[in-house]
Amino acid sequence: MQGDLAVGIHDLSVSTTQFALTHETLAAHNGADIGKYHVGIGQRSMSVPAADEDIVTMAAAAAAPVVGRAGADRIRTIVFATESSIDQAKAAGIYVHSLLGMPSATRVVELKQACYAGTAALHFAAALVRQDPSQQVLVIASDVSRYEPDDPGEATQGAAAVAMLVGADPALVRLEEPTGLFTADIMDFWRPNYRTTALVDGQESIAAYLQAAEGAWKDYTERGGRSLGEFRAFCYHQPFTRMAHKAHRHLLQSQGHAADEDTVDRAVGGTTAYNADIGNSYTASMYIGLAALLDSAEDLAGRPVGFLSYGSGSVAEFFAGTIVPGYRSELRSGLHRDVISRRRIVDFTRYRELHAFSFPADGGDHPAPRETTGPYRLAGVFGHKRIYEPR
Ligand code: CAA
Repeated sequence: MQGDLAVGIHDLSVSTTQFALTHETLAAHNGADIGKYHVGIGQRSMSVPAADEDIVTMAAAAAAPVVGRAGADRIRTIVFATESSIDQAKAAGIYVHSLLGMPSATRVVELKQACYAGTAALHFAAALVRQDPSQQVLVIASDVSRYEPDDPGEATQGAAAVAMLVGADPALVRLEEPTGLFTADIMDFWRPNYRTTALVDGQESIAAYLQAAEGAWKDYTERGGRSLGEFRAFCYHQPFTRMAHKAHRHLLQSQGHAADEDTVDRAVGGTTAYNADIGNSYTASMYIGLAALLDSAEDLAGRPVGFLSYGSGSVAEFFAGTIVPGYRSELRSGLHRDVISRRRIVDFTRYRELHAFSFPADGGDHPAPRETTGPYRLAGVFGHKRIYEPR
């Protein structure tokens, strides 16, 4: 147990992209019944990055208000979780550190294990804080989800970042021990280094997710965790928002509980509002579910929330957090609604142009078109170097 020291999420900020594609537009292109998207997978639109946006610009936009409020003095570590990495060697967090003018006395590292890496980052951050409670850790999860055009996965794309400040005496969520773990070597979803789009076996990936959720829950209960009935709500990884419903129904049934639609909806319904418009943001997705839950009308002060993080390949972790009394005054609800509603809706042709866009890999100088109206942009790729700038 962690003793009396409260450690957890002190601040949480979300950012996403300049553009969005609605599922009506996708359905008009591929002939799908819109009910399949709106009801079957629970998605209304997906965020689409501009040519001068990527995981770094979204991450910096999410982190800037967090660092602006807390100051950088106590932040000695930045952990950047992503599975849409822009470099095989350099950590994307170093660009964020530079854009935000953070002190040189900082360690910066990048973590990968599919959509699970944000949760690994959170727990590693909490361990650093327990070691030295005067320090804070900036955890960033940022991803662009891309499948091949006309792949069934195309409807489950998206892009977003979250930034979380982890520290002692957190203002939002107090993390609890134990946590439950599960790993299995499985090829349900992966992206070889030579590909820019993910490969997936859709139904296999759903089955793998459900098996991993059950496995992580089993380990959690064997280690003395809370019972299912104690939680007010559950944040699940949401590759599409219906997956949260599927997962919770599966968890309830696997433990012999009733799993009628009302029960499932009461447990996960508060977590899906943002992801239904953003789409899959891989490492950020579960924490965007948390942002939606905290920003919702219900007062959750003192209530336990369950978290089920899943990353294909696969690793899952179940853990609990208690919402801290007074959390509402620290929220960024207006900012979150604004970053989603300000996106420009694009038509199908423009979406496919953006999907196909890439910089030549010839080492020449390639400025990026000026498209984003966000606070940071990718200026271009010059001599194989990505150059970022405030807009
Ligand atoms: N009205 C209402 N519902 C409808 C409908 C209609 N007109 N038409 C279809 N549906 C329902 C279907 O019944 C189905 O629901 P159930 O799963 O509850 O049966 C749902 O809509 C989707 O229909 P299909 O399964 O036929 O859709 P699909 O073959 O196009 O595949 C998908 C859907 C597997 C999610 C696909 O989009 C995909 O491969 N996505 C990427 C992989 C993914 O997201 N996997 C999730 C687990 S892996 C993970 O979590 C890691 C990660 O982030 C990738």
